[in-house]
Amino acid sequence: MKCTVSASKSFVRGTVDKRLFSSFVEQLGRAVYGGVYEKDHPLADEQGFRTDVMDLVRELDVPMVRFPGGNYVSNHNWEDSVGPKEKRPMRLDLAWKALDPNQFGIKEFIEWSKKVGTEPMMAINLGTRGISEAKDLVEYCNHPKGSTLSDLRIEHGSEEPYDIKMWCLGNEMDGPWQVGHKTATEYGRLASEVGKALKLFDPSLELVACGSSNADMPTFPQWEETVLDHTYEVVDYLSMHMYFRNDEDDIATFLASSLSMDSFIENVVHVCDYVKAKKRSKKTIYLSFDEWNVWFHSNEQDKKQKEWIVGPKLLEDVYTFEDALVVGCLLNSLLRHCDRVKIACLAQLVNTIAPIMTETGGPAWKQTIYWPFYYASKYGRGEVLDVVCNVPTYENKRYGTVPYADTVLVYHPEIGELDFFVVNRNLEEDLFLDLDFSGFSKTPTLLEQISLKHENRKAVNDKDHPNEVHPIVTEGKKLFASTLQVSKMTWNLFRFSVVD
Ligand code: AHR
Repeated sequence: MKCTVSASKSFVRGTVDKRLFSSFVEQLGRAVYGGVYEKDHPLADEQGFRTDVMDLVRELDVPMVRFPGGNYVSNHNWEDSVGPKEKRPMRLDLAWKALDPNQFGIKEFIEWSKKVGTEPMMAINLGTRGISEAKDLVEYCNHPKGSTLSDLRIEHGSEEPYDIKMWCLGNEMDGPWQVGHKTATEYGRLASEVGKALKLFDPSLELVACGSSNADMPTFPQWEETVLDHTYEVVDYLSMHMYFRNDEDDIATFLASSLSMDSFIENVVHVCDYVKAKKRSKKTIYLSFDEWNVWFHSNEQDKKQKEWIVGPKLLEDVYTFEDALVVGCLLNSLLRHCDRVKIACLAQLVNTIAPIMTETGGPAWKQTIYWPFYYASKYGRGEVLDVVCNVPTYENKRYGTVPYADTVLVYHPEIGELDFFVVNRNLEEDLFLDLDFSGFSKTPTLLEQISLKHENRKAVNDKDHPNEVHPIVTEGKKLFASTLQVSKMTWNLFRFSVVD
């Protein structure tokens, strides 16, 4: 199939904020207990952190990690998760019907974050709690010393403040499943007062208000409008969440999932800018897509999971090759919208709907979706250029007209490199892309092609076959490239040099 792809370095969509490659660790399932923290594991360090997991997280180069929830946060008392571990209470987590021993709390999260080289993004409970507990938490974490709660942190062994800059004002407060679910007005008022208190403490804090839990919520997009009516001048970001599924095994529809991410983002941008116009505001609200992934494989097995235990096996999706293609397209969508989406968290990081999987007491390995995330995180931090793609399309019941190629082009002017991410959604045919990258000093030379391909779209990586789906790197040829062959049903990264 013949197609053309044109771009110019003058047409820059936006500069990627590195926090687009963030992730999420919720106190859910084995994300923490048996995932990041397993004190009896042979590879655990002196704090009980699994060093094999830390190595994989470092390799992914995740700039920020959201914690401690998710639905979990809406019924959690932060005070339970600080101080001497032996005195911390065992609580019931109503969100996931699990026992919560509070052994990996705020101090442990901050110390783990430092070890893996990431920044914390802390979510506040606005389900069962309010302004008073939120301001106490921020004082405990960020005030240097001399107040009751900052001195308590010091007594708990953290002399230096945690200096957490990024705060989520609740989680999915529009969802009837949420403990402490609220109407948009109730939440908007509360979030605006909590935000005000936090900014009185430190105006440089960055705050995220809850948007809708997904685009199918009956209250979307009225929720966004009402919440922003109340919070516009106090918050910096509006959150978005979306999960994708293929439970009817309809591959053509599943591979087009990024079209719904595109339209969700564009619709939320419209609402933000509508409220901006209503308020005659000069301020722009940016988006924090702080939960996204494929999630459906574990739904049935989760119904059989034992309740009220520590670290139940919940949301342990085993990802297929086709899931990796979809995750590749979703990353392209986030990059394409980098002018407004500044933060995005792959939900989650370890074991629960995650790129990293572990066996309790055993090894850790990379799921299929690890790879597109790894390469986007490594090569996606640059300027996203507008690309005009003239490619064949297919018709789909849910999404209408779908292009076979899902593309994004990232330019790194400082090193003269162009990184071209392409997913070929065509199940039968290769694509031949004629490139017209005008304005660069000469025709780009291909440094390297990295591909994910597999004969079996249901192929998975597991403990016994951790490399079943792995990147194939063709390098060092310095090819003059004006036509690219993109194999059917593949994810690809073409790295070009544009230096003379
Ligand atoms: O990531 C799993 C759950 O999905 C989160 O707890 C919640 O915010 C969302 O519904």
